[in-house]
Amino acid sequence: MVKIGLISLAHMHGLSYGRALQASSQAQFVGIYDRDEQRGSRYAKEFGVEYFPDLSMLLKSVDAVIICSENALHAEYTLAAARAGKHVMCEKPLATNLDDAYAMVRACEENGVILQTAFPMRYSTPVVRGKEIVASGALGKIVAFSGSFHGRTMGALSVTYKAAYREPFAPLVPGVCFAPFNDLAAAAALISDATCAVVVEPVQGEGGIHAATPAFLRGLRALCDQHGALLIFDEIQCGLGRTGRLWAHEAAGVTPDIMTLAKPLANGLPIGAILLTEDVAAAVGPGEHGSTFAGGPVVCRAGEVVFDRVSDPDFLAAVAANGEYLRERLRALASPLVVEVRGEGLLVGVELKTAVAPILAAARQRGLLVINAGDNTLRIAPPLIVTRDHIDAAVAILGECLAEEEKRLTQGR
Ligand SMILES: Cc1ncc(COP(=O)(O)O)c(C=O)c1O
Repeated sequence: MVKIGLISLAHMHGLSYGRALQASSQAQFVGIYDRDEQRGSRYAKEFGVEYFPDLSMLLKSVDAVIICSENALHAEYTLAAARAGKHVMCEKPLATNLDDAYAMVRACEENGVILQTAFPMRYSTPVVRGKEIVASGALGKIVAFSGSFHGRTMGALSVTYKAAYREPFAPLVPGVCFAPFNDLAAAAALISDATCAVVVEPVQGEGGIHAATPAFLRGLRALCDQHGALLIFDEIQCGLGRTGRLWAHEAAGVTPDIMTLAKPLANGLPIGAILLTEDVAAAVGPGEHGSTFAGGPVVCRAGEVVFDRVSDPDFLAAVAANGEYLRERLRALASPLVVEVRGEGLLVGVELKTAVAPILAAARQRGLLVINAGDNTLRIAPPLIVTRDHIDAAVAILGECLAEEEKRLTQGR
């Protein structure tokens, strides 16, 4: 029997839920939380259930909650229930702003609980709600994607998905909505004539080494053209030869209006670049976009040399072949800890069943630097001039680390 509690936030519109719960042979109506003590105790008495003046006590006693909110906002209650691992049913619109809506959906996903609403889907899916907000012009001027990482300056941070990066620096640039990565229908629901830009990594790095499908990038291009929005590709991690193509997005056969570059551009010297189409560039006047050290001659000269080198077709072919070799060798380890080896060119992800932190530390001790992309994915992004000998040596070390970790986990059981 499922134990269910009522969270009452307004006048007891939930009386009918209470009655239904009482009548149900599958649910056990455990009790009521109401921030208004008098009202809550009165309803609890009426139903013959316990009144909980403390929400956390109710959450400890149930498997699921019904939130009777009438027109009151309930984001904080949904979040509290989801974080306590309880399924949530609510009768009214999820939220009046997209950040709250996504926070609720994310909390439910992360905690493996179901979020259900009694009212029409029009109100209950954040994407559709997002479309309404975009149409109102209040939000959704910029569309970005789940799993994205665009950097830690203010504008870039605003379109970065992970709340842990964004929240400490809030408030950020307003008007950003996130759609699920590689979900064109969800993106289409958010992109409207009010949208000015859509920003996406053709291969997500920080987000776990996930490539955008060619169909997704082509679809975004079409949506941007339809609505007069600019398409921005962030190729800071995946561009400049990393995937075995000069630009990661070449696989999709579409071009962006704006593209960002940085990491390898001057082979380690600090440089970032933004490429604009002629049309976009025409909108930027002298002095509007610049910075003290931008365009310094030393780094720009280094950038020219690197660009010449990585745009050589033979160089790119070697990156592609070495990347394939690295993935093959990693798969050949056949470690039971590995869920998937993926990636493009020399941007490789090894998703594990377990946390990657111990593997990173063990590899570092043996002289191999690898990094994580999320909690469970190892990110291997070697220098583009890596040789097969280097790859063999690195894979041997990773093999040892994986075997050691597997042994440790098996013994710990
Ligand atoms: C895709 C992407 N964009 C932008 C950046 C720049 O980030 P930051 O501003 O932290 O240097 C990074 C850094 O990892 C990145 O991976």
